[in-house]
Amino acid sequence: MNLRYLSRSDVEDLNISMSQIISVVEEGFRLKGLGKVQMPPKIAVKSRGPESFLHAMPAYVGGLDIAAIKWVGGNDDNPDRGLPTISGLIVLNDPETMFPVCVMDAIWVTAVRTGAANAVAMKYLGPAQAKTVSIVGCGVQGRSNLLAMATIYPEITEARCFDVNPDALERFVRESRDAYNFQITPAASPREAVEEADVVVTAGPSPKEPTPYLSEEWLKRGAMAAPVDYMGAWEGPMASSVDRLITDDHGQMEYYRSKGYFRDVPRPYADLGEIVAGVKPGRQNPDERTMSILLGIALDDAVTANLIHQRAIEENIGTLLPL
Ligand SMILES: NC(=O)c1ccc[n+]([C@@H]2O[C@H](COP(=O)([O-])OP(=O)(O)OC[C@H]3O[C@@H](n4cnc5c(N)ncnc54)[C@H](O)[C@@H]3O)[C@@H](O)[C@H]2O)c1
Repeated sequence: MNLRYLSRSDVEDLNISMSQIISVVEEGFRLKGLGKVQMPPKIAVKSRGPESFLHAMPAYVGGLDIAAIKWVGGNDDNPDRGLPTISGLIVLNDPETMFPVCVMDAIWVTAVRTGAANAVAMKYLGPAQAKTVSIVGCGVQGRSNLLAMATIYPEITEARCFDVNPDALERFVRESRDAYNFQITPAASPREAVEEADVVVTAGPSPKEPTPYLSEEWLKRGAMAAPVDYMGAWEGPMASSVDRLITDDHGQMEYYRSKGYFRDVPRPYADLGEIVAGVKPGRQNPDERTMSILLGIALDDAVTANLIHQRAIEENIGTLLPL
């Protein structure tokens, strides 16, 4: 018996588009909203200090018949070592025999599926059109979320970007100007980046005890805040002041609360699956200010990894290894 091993370059060379990933992630959330997904909250161990973690993230996606687990680690000091913050592996299992059939690098999947999940949230909670978008924290997630927004909002005319690290900001602006045909504006302050934006993605650090640097008054009416940094940027009252607050999984949010996160965050009225499945309503009028706190769940990884695996089989990519 063999399993297929897909390295980081195998995964990336398949050139799967953001719009394909958004489609499978949206379908995954629809199935979750219909109660067809088994997904216990991710569990964590820490090896050394608060800056590092390892998460085990299993899921079974009924309807698509996908069984998978991601084993993902992160260390905030990795960039100082010249390494990505996040690394990991995803294992896909045959849903009948339960034997492992594929092991793949998780770096690319983690980057793109997070942007894709945010794009799904924006389709249901964001403004109908977004001309100005904002990225605060111009790293891996800043890039993935800008691509996701450019995919669902073809009318974007400007992306305003801010990063505390001037080199990171300069690199991001240069790369984005090459990649997109809308204006890329480096902002001199976080406030300048977010004030006129229709959608604001924050992707800086996510400490348990954040030092907020964005005021809730800076999010304009009708706009959406889409933090992927576990509310590391917005000040405490923000989550209570928006008209609609969602997350991707209530159980996952409760798990994080038990670890000391989200003390100022009220219980979201819905998870994204309930909204995509039509069980609960999304945005109801153009004036609402909305917010999605997506924590990153195993469902996102399972459906994205399954798409990659299917394409790898079709194109005969990867290395077959004996079990
Ligand atoms: N919710 C999810 O599903 C999910 C998934 C992956 C990563 N994350 C989180 O997303 C965040 C970003 O991850 P990443 O992989 O892009 O990290 P990264 O290290 O690639 O990028 C983070 C960027 O934020 C910048 N930054 C730091 N402090 C800042 C500040 N005060 N203001 C503005 N910019 C600041 C850094 O200079 C860096 O460029 C992390 O908090 C990570 O935990 C969430």
